[in-house]
Amino acid sequence: MSESAKRASAAAALEYVQADSILGVGSGSTANIFIDLLAEKRLPLAGTVASSEATAERLRAHGYEVMDLNHTGGLDLYVDGADETDAHLRLIKGGGAALTREKIIAAASARFVCIADNSKLVELLGAFPLPIEVIPMARSHVARALVRLGGDPEYREGVVTDNGNVILDVHNLRILDPVAMERDINQIVGVVSVGLFAARGADVLLLGQDDGSCRTLTPQ
Ligand code: A5P
Repeated sequence: MSESAKRASAAAALEYVQADSILGVGSGSTANIFIDLLAEKRLPLAGTVASSEATAERLRAHGYEVMDLNHTGGLDLYVDGADETDAHLRLIKGGGAALTREKIIAAASARFVCIADNSKLVELLGAFPLPIEVIPMARSHVARALVRLGGDPEYREGVVTDNGNVILDVHNLRILDPVAMERDINQIVGVVSVGLFAARGADVLLLGQDDGSCRTLTPQ
């Protein structure tokens, strides 16, 4: 992954932003570049909805108002990064532990534009360990259920999410059917959310290239 690829992707997303709209903004290093570019271009917004406390802080530092999703209604646009994507724009997210709020904003948005560098596009999801947010007391119970699904869960030591929960990263999953896997993991009691964005993937993928260009992909 290169900085120029991330920057190309983040810059391309600016084209999708309507002036004076309320914008959903994701988390991670590519989203951070996007936020900085928004401010650099002085794009006026009616407000923003942030997927993490870190993103909210960055938006406020640039002078953007951060709003409560309960007060904004549905959003027209959500811009966020990903840890992996396939050609159908089904994603793995949550490397930054912000998956639950990211999933809520994606669900509440008419359009989800994903910004990522070219290293994130894979044929089969699952090489990146799948993050799962879990209620703390259910950690061991959920881990045993994930082993039964064929995974190898690892507790992300020392991480507490913005919602007060913990993260299990699941290694060695072959995610042949992402929609079914998302549904099965969601049904484990104690799971808050799974970082598979398959039932609701991205609508547009802006895939930054090392030479500073950007490819636009839509679901196959
Ligand atoms: C945050 O929880 C993740 O879902 C991010 O979207 C993801 O980790 C992408 O981050 P980078 O842009 O830093 O690769």
